[in-house]
Amino acid sequence: MNETEKIEGYELLIAQLEGLLSTQNHTLSNLANASAVLMDFLPESVFTGFYLYDGARLVLGPFQGSVSCVEIEMGKGVCGQAAADGVTLIVDDVRAHKNYISCDSRALSEIVVPLYKDGKLVGVLDLDAPTIAGYDEIDKKYLEIFAEKLSALTDFHFFEVGGK
Ligand code: SME
Repeated sequence: MNETEKIEGYELLIAQLEGLLSTQNHTLSNLANASAVLMDFLPESVFTGFYLYDGARLVLGPFQGSVSCVEIEMGKGVCGQAAADGVTLIVDDVRAHKNYISCDSRALSEIVVPLYKDGKLVGVLDLDAPTIAGYDEIDKKYLEIFAEKLSALTDFHFFEVGGK
């Protein structure tokens, strides 16, 4: 995919996300579908998904990929670091990044975008690629837009299974 194709692809992806989420705002469904459209768009990905902030740490949320680490302390790993600092992080070579938690040895680069709802941290969007330097400023720009749209269209309330 060249740069133009990538930009056009991301614009379509974001339009697709908005269409998909426009009729409801269920948290788990939206996060699950968001991880699925990301994997469809970037099928070589090792992981596309979410870690959710429970008020103390990050906990594995909906994702596409292989079995992954469940709990990540704030500040730990790329996810915990992005969540604690409130900034998008790109790691070109995870083997050279000291603060990295390895969940899948196929991952060589990573991008993590913090996710906010009404100004509060609700989690992170995490993507892992099987190539060195798999993410650039175009990915950062569009994944941040993706995260913002997703947050705006999702209530981040969780229902109790079985009702009250
Ligand atoms: N590598 C991440 C952990 C999560 S997995 O990539 C899905 C990190 O360093 O926080």
